[in-house]
Amino acid sequence: MACLTIALTKGRLEQQTLFLFEKAGINCSFMQEKQRKLIFTSPDQRFKFLLVKAADVTTYVRHGVADIGIVGKDVLVEHPHGYYEMLDLGIGKCKFSVASIPSYEPNDHKRKRIATKYPTIASDYFREKGEDVEIIKIEGSVEIAPVLGLADAIVDIVETGTTLKENGLEIFEDICLISARLIVNKAALKRKRSEIFQLFDQLEPVIEGGNDN
Ligand code: PRP
Repeated sequence: MACLTIALTKGRLEQQTLFLFEKAGINCSFMQEKQRKLIFTSPDQRFKFLLVKAADVTTYVRHGVADIGIVGKDVLVEHPHGYYEMLDLGIGKCKFSVASIPSYEPNDHKRKRIATKYPTIASDYFREKGEDVEIIKIEGSVEIAPVLGLADAIVDIVETGTTLKENGLEIFEDICLISARLIVNKAALKRKRSEIFQLFDQLEPVIEGGNDN
């Protein structure tokens, strides 16, 4: 049986993914010895895990370095090509929202500046509303942009709401729900079909309702 290489989003999603794999009967204890290690092979050689940044998961899968990727739908919306999106894993659930300081007026008719790490999501959302906005691309710590006057509001991921609260922001509009997806390299789906579907057969019974979108 050929080894499946899986590009896994480092951080919050990593823990939830390994928990899901364990529930599916896949022993992931070989991942626990890590300090700064980024590549792990299971003792039975069935899986190789690469720990990478979310936005790089699609790159590894698109180039065929990884057969499978596990990454949030938020990243797939911004990087939509070069792989098959196969499963909603029902983990990493959160939502996209428009948030700002309490004095923000979403319905005034001024042209708004929107700070975000997700320019595609943000511009699609406001375009569909028929609102012309200026998108300001930010790489992180987006929450401070309205506080400091860089933007009128932000479009960002909200999971627990703690980051918004601690920075004095509130939600004005919810855009959509998101969750983690399993993506597959197009050639790998042919070459390693039986290995990939064997993994799906193990995962599917333990997946709990995703955020279908
Ligand atoms: C996301 C998002 C918020 C935070 C929301 O950032 O951009 O900052 O999580 O989570 P909360 O509602 O539970 O507070 P992430 O932690 O993914 O880090 P990043 O800014 O490096 O992308």
